[in-house]
Amino acid sequence: MAGIEVAALAAQDVAKRYGGRAALDGVSVSVARGEALGVVGESGSGKSTLARVMVGLLAPDEGAVAASGETFDPKTARGRAALRRRAQFVFQDAASAFNPRRTIGQSLEAPLIGLTRLGRADRRRRTAETLELVGLRAEHAERHPHEFSGGQLQRAGIARALIAEPDVVALDEPVSALDVSVQAQILALLKRLRAERGLTMIFVSHDLAVVETLCDRIAVIKAGRIVEEGACRETLARPREDYTRALVAAAAGGHG
Ligand SMILES: Nc1ncnc2c1ncn2[C@@H]1O[C@H](COP(=O)(O)OP(=O)(O)O)[C@@H](O)[C@H]1O
Ligand SMILES: [Mg+2]
Repeated sequence: MAGIEVAALAAQDVAKRYGGRAALDGVSVSVARGEALGVVGESGSGKSTLARVMVGLLAPDEGAVAASGETFDPKTARGRAALRRRAQFVFQDAASAFNPRRTIGQSLEAPLIGLTRLGRADRRRRTAETLELVGLRAEHAERHPHEFSGGQLQRAGIARALIAEPDVVALDEPVSALDVSVQAQILALLKRLRAERGLTMIFVSHDLAVVETLCDRIAVIKAGRIVEEGACRETLARPREDYTRALVAAAAGGHG
């Protein structure tokens, strides 16, 4: 762990404005290889915007993103495409993240066609293996999204993110739309994937309890700026900033 580590993914002075209002205001944050970074903050603070910029889904107005030591310009389509080859995204709403007309297998194979040279039989095999990795079965590949429960569909969303073996997976409130019991199952899956595969993760959530069980480090974002960053447990136990303290207090009182 000692020495200089090259970040798996790092945002560098990223700014993004919507109609003159800053959604991100000079954000720099990084996640090391094998690390789980929690990004927390109140609704509208810029969490999703940051995650989307980092994985190449959204163009910022300013800033760069570095992946494994290589710097990319996410303002350009080319830079974003390069980031998408290295990082994948899991959406909060798995139901709308899949094309309803495609089988889950077709959706999972799509990134393999673009990102790997696997032939058809190998793609099938990788799809089956990845479905099993996330607790689904090979035959789920033949089914359409409407045949899945919410929890199964989020497992499929995680499978799609993992299938081409990205360096980093960013998950944006991946359990917020699920029932509590299903949330626990998905979180257990993510923990297992971290333990077994050393998955590098950016985990966006407004739920501090969830972040605490899953993450090594935490970045607290307020109005488009990182206000506090540190080891997860220590930061939540002894926040330095009033804003973080208020988030912790709200979580303790809110039971949700
Ligand atoms: N597509 C968009 N158009 C206009 N404003 C947006 C858009 N996306 C996000 N915003 C604004 O940017 C800010 C940050 O949003 P977001 O990153 O979604 O926050 P969070 O994920 O923390 O709730 C909010 O003020 C939000 O209203
Ligand atoms: Mg969000």
